[in-house]
Amino acid sequence: MSATAEMTLREIDRAHHLHPFTNNADMHARDIGHVITGAEGVYVYDDKGRKLLDGLAGLWCVNTGYGRREIIDAIQAQLEKLCYYPSFFNSTTEPSILLAEKLHSLGLPRLTHTIFSNSGSEANETAIKSILNYWNLKGMPARNKFLARTYAYHGVTLGATCLTGLASCTKPFGLPNGGFIHAPGPYHYVANTDLDPVAYGQWCIAETEKIILREGPETIAALFAEPIQGAGGVIVPPAGYLKALRELARKYGILYVSDEVITGFGRTGAVYASEAWDLDPDVQCLAKGITSGYLPLGATRISAEMAETLFAGGYYAHGHTYSGHPVPCAAALANIALMEKEDTVAYVHDDIGPYFEKKLLALASHPAVGEARCCNLMGALELLDKGRKVTDPYFGLGPKAAALIRNHGVIVRGLANLIAISPALCITHAEVDELFVAVEAGLDELAG
Ligand SMILES: Cc1ncc(COP(=O)(O)O)c(C=O)c1O
Repeated sequence: MSATAEMTLREIDRAHHLHPFTNNADMHARDIGHVITGAEGVYVYDDKGRKLLDGLAGLWCVNTGYGRREIIDAIQAQLEKLCYYPSFFNSTTEPSILLAEKLHSLGLPRLTHTIFSNSGSEANETAIKSILNYWNLKGMPARNKFLARTYAYHGVTLGATCLTGLASCTKPFGLPNGGFIHAPGPYHYVANTDLDPVAYGQWCIAETEKIILREGPETIAALFAEPIQGAGGVIVPPAGYLKALRELARKYGILYVSDEVITGFGRTGAVYASEAWDLDPDVQCLAKGITSGYLPLGATRISAEMAETLFAGGYYAHGHTYSGHPVPCAAALANIALMEKEDTVAYVHDDIGPYFEKKLLALASHPAVGEARCCNLMGALELLDKGRKVTDPYFGLGPKAAALIRNHGVIVRGLANLIAISPALCITHAEVDELFVAVEAGLDELAG
């Protein structure tokens, strides 16, 4: 018998597995790791037999819920029919063609073409490279800088990390590289300002314009922005801010990239937040909810004008072995069909989103809460330390609160000094009630 066979699963994990976005040493020293063994609907089960309500839909992705037969069957059927074939070298497969058409039919009609990848990071990386390719083909190679915002999260590949505006993600790697610039994100709560949120949003726009002029507008290839900054703190933008940001990009001929990796597929009460908020992006990045997390898939949608330029450029020298993989594309088609059958977006917009929002915003007056922010099924609570506002992101009230809430049977995400709550879109009223009973119990303990 091998040594491994005599070890527990947790010991093997310690010996052989480095977890992403985890303090691995601390997790093992304090034995605070979780091994999830099953899931159904909005609940997950761990190896200790606990049932937990997943208030983060995995990682903001399991939009239609766990264990949906329709998606599982579609994956199995596709595996049996054609388990893999690439989209390189004049080939492709039926699910990738049909999914590209489906993404177009769901909204933002100016974005006619899709380039597939395997994750949100790769969707953004693909956007970066395709935009560089585009400006080269247009005879404007000097447009090679990328503008993003503080508190942005765009992923972990090299370019996507450089776009990210969180020191915790960039500093360990000595990034961002030159050519990636950050304008202030509209995070009013942590800004040291006397301005109200709308005026602060206007200040951010004015600062962004100053940065564009300082760099030289003709040197900036694109502006990347999440409609709601997710991992940076569920920063719901103040009224007027996003439209002004989009217009600023247009004014200077800068391409506007909408990173909808979290907001795509219903979480904010629209299939695409960029369409509902009239942002008219030149490029849109999708992942997560596209398959409800059942299989990895990223998608970069580009405008007809950009697609025509890339077509005219001849050989498009980018793509992954698994770009347009038929099985995740089949999963996405089944996931979207399920959302259409259940009218999920209308359910979020008209029913469960407002219900969730009301419950979350009611916690704004809790003694442990400094601010509550929400847009349908995407919410956050800023936390207070014994009544005191904390803005140092490393103070860690979020993870502390998340651990307390988990003891009451609910998973939320602890981030800096806030908790993010974003359950599956199929969550019922009774499950929302259960979720907030646990959140409130954890917050009571935090308040002491
Ligand atoms: C807005 C946004 N963009 C990109 C990413 C990166 O996606 P992935 O983790 O699939 O690479 C994320 C992940 O959370 C995200 O929230």
